[in-house]
Amino acid sequence: MCGIVGYIGSKPAGDIIIDGLRRLEYRGYDSAGIAVLQDRAIELRRSVGKLSALVKALESNAVRGTVGIGHTRWATHGRPCEENAHPHTDCTGKIVVVHNGIIENYLELKKQLQQSGHVFKSETDTEVIAHLVEARFNGDLLQAVQGALAQVRGAYALGVIAADEPGRIIVARRDAPLIIGLGEGENFLASDIPALLPYTRRMVFLEEGDLAAISADKVVIYNSGGETVVRKEHSIAWDAVQAEKGGYKHFMLKEIFEQPQAIQDTFRGRLSPEDGAINLDGATLPAEAVRQLSKIYIVACGTSYHAGLVGKFLFENLARIPVEVDIASEFRYRSPVLDKNAVAIVISQSGETADTLAALRLSKQGKCPVIAVCNAIGSTVSREADATLYTRCGPEIGVASTKAFTGQLTALYLLAFDWAGKRGTLTGDTLLRLIRELWEVPGKVSEALKSSDTMRSLAKEFSQARDFLYLGRNINYPVALEGALKLKEISYIHAEGYPAGEMKHGPIALIDEDMPVMVVATAGKVYEKILGNIEEAQARGGTIIAVATEGDEAIKSKTSHHVFVPHVDELFSPIINVVPLQLFSYHMAVQRGCDVDQPRNLAKSVTVE
Ligand code: G6P
Repeated sequence: MCGIVGYIGSKPAGDIIIDGLRRLEYRGYDSAGIAVLQDRAIELRRSVGKLSALVKALESNAVRGTVGIGHTRWATHGRPCEENAHPHTDCTGKIVVVHNGIIENYLELKKQLQQSGHVFKSETDTEVIAHLVEARFNGDLLQAVQGALAQVRGAYALGVIAADEPGRIIVARRDAPLIIGLGEGENFLASDIPALLPYTRRMVFLEEGDLAAISADKVVIYNSGGETVVRKEHSIAWDAVQAEKGGYKHFMLKEIFEQPQAIQDTFRGRLSPEDGAINLDGATLPAEAVRQLSKIYIVACGTSYHAGLVGKFLFENLARIPVEVDIASEFRYRSPVLDKNAVAIVISQSGETADTLAALRLSKQGKCPVIAVCNAIGSTVSREADATLYTRCGPEIGVASTKAFTGQLTALYLLAFDWAGKRGTLTGDTLLRLIRELWEVPGKVSEALKSSDTMRSLAKEFSQARDFLYLGRNINYPVALEGALKLKEISYIHAEGYPAGEMKHGPIALIDEDMPVMVVATAGKVYEKILGNIEEAQARGGTIIAVATEGDEAIKSKTSHHVFVPHVDELFSPIINVVPLQLFSYHMAVQRGCDVDQPRNLAKSVTVE
């Protein structure tokens, strides 16, 4: 939520910062701004709306200079307008701040600062930081920022520059991500890896409470106690091209089509279809701990939560361990019964979701070991968890998550196989068969992607619908939830996901000719029941769109609209069935002229509570 980029070196800072912000726009797009230092003066430009508005403003009023910071905003305090856009300045206009997070005690600080004569220009919480730094600045920006941060409560990733100290950028983080990119005679800062990929692969992830002084030729990091510390340098293997659209019209479509690769990359090298060996390289629990497990808590938000719901079926069916799945913002405020014989699996694409992180910390306090399923290397979740099983999806830029979801499912299959093996709840033969089936899944997903044209035609037909019901049962109930979420997120159509068997207890009252019903009706143990549910909906005038298994003649004759996916063991059906639903929501959004990659009001990485 909100993206920050900074540069210090000998190249034009403006170009690099705008390019980086473009890659971070998924973090927020209510407004954007940039501040560049030139001849001991600050040049500031800000615009409401997407980055393109700022780029346009810069065309007629360019910034010069080789040191600067920029920001793309997802509004928390203060509506999206130019005054509330970052960067924010102090009274003199010589101290400039970009910030991601929330300063909780800003009202109290603002009052004190106003009483001592500071004049505020925005409604944001961030502006207090600029004034706090101003109040302490006497030539040493590092000390002034240190002093200012001692007074604030809340979450922040920030970058600060001062006209009177042009040789460095001061940055700090607490409960919001910040990365330093290392170059030759130049250095960078950013909220997330993709922003810096074209410039450097050498990255340092700041830790909680860290503060750093970044100049062109050195980076000095201090921990929260003020001591100099060395943080590990990571070499990031992600390809800059992965963070580009690569010929696709939208990131979301590209990412949907990258799923076979993302799934394969996530299991490759971790299991063997020859002998059934599983090697998760420490990203699991030791055999003894798995045998002792009394319970699994799976905690996540959004699409990752839906992956968790599928995970429940996997761990219960295969490893015979009871599972509770929680939305992180709920889990953190209830009193889960945690102990060392339970395990928490937190799932997060970004590894920075504030509620998921809070749930992780709560679990650790309760002495419950935490395993993260995470996509972003070096993210806070991955650092704080006891072990991280990385999905290997590469950067996901589209706000609506797609390949991260199927990558997460893949990681959960791996963990469930591993634990079933360790507990002896599956025979070696069954495990080997399942591992071999998983091996076939990327090819089946490629087949399912061929439904794109069908989904486009269906989208043309249904693009004017105001409501949609999505039904699924058993292991495909979470798929119905995910399909409905995708439609809501990017095409702004009200959609409700429901367990098909529960329809008669409420939603059936909504069904009429204006309420299309998407039904996941692939082969499996509840197939007959789903056919019954389809009949019930049709009897009330509902138009059914069925996702069915190739060769299903019964569905063909029963429904006017259907799409077919390849046959897989029911256990793997969610990973296949979700594909046409992703494509449907994508084509619906395109039909309706919606902004697919940057849907209104949403942000990809929700770093505030
Ligand atoms: C936001 C994103 C979703 C994502 C959710 C959880 O709502 O728009 O796509 O599923 O956050 O994010 P995480 O990074 O923790 O998986």
